[in-house]
Amino acid sequence: MTENKIIAHFIEDHKYYQNLFENYAKAKLRSAPNTTDVYNDLRNSIKRHSNQEEVLYSKFEPKDDELLKILDEVRQEHRKITNLLDDTFEEEDETELKVILEKLRKLLTKHINSEEKKLYPYFDDVLSKKCSDEIIDDIDMYDQID
Ligand SMILES: [Fe+2]
Ligand SMILES: [Fe+2]
Repeated sequence: MTENKIIAHFIEDHKYYQNLFENYAKAKLRSAPNTTDVYNDLRNSIKRHSNQEEVLYSKFEPKDDELLKILDEVRQEHRKITNLLDDTFEEEDETELKVILEKLRKLLTKHINSEEKKLYPYFDDVLSKKCSDEIIDDIDMYDQID
């Protein structure tokens, strides 16, 4: 487990939006009255999280080729995740909706694994050598960290 506040917060965020995704999937499949609210919450929290990650990723871009490749994939996934989420919201056909929801569920799991297993260990290492408070300020995360 990381000692770093930024990485620890990102990992908490992953749990939060995976849960929110499951709530959204249930609401959307039942056409529940709160579907739009849950969708907006989920979309905003994923967007905010991805933007914060992007600040960190662009600040300390790795030199290692394998990590750079993963970073490139993860950045593309940020766009794909939001696009797929929007597709689910617009989809009216139940069979098709289930297919897209499953695709998005798998993509979220893959994305989170790439970040937590490959990228975060690198950034955790880099951040331990830098002044964390200044970076928290840059990432605009003060209101989210105790
Ligand atoms: Fe991400
Ligand atoms: Fe993430």
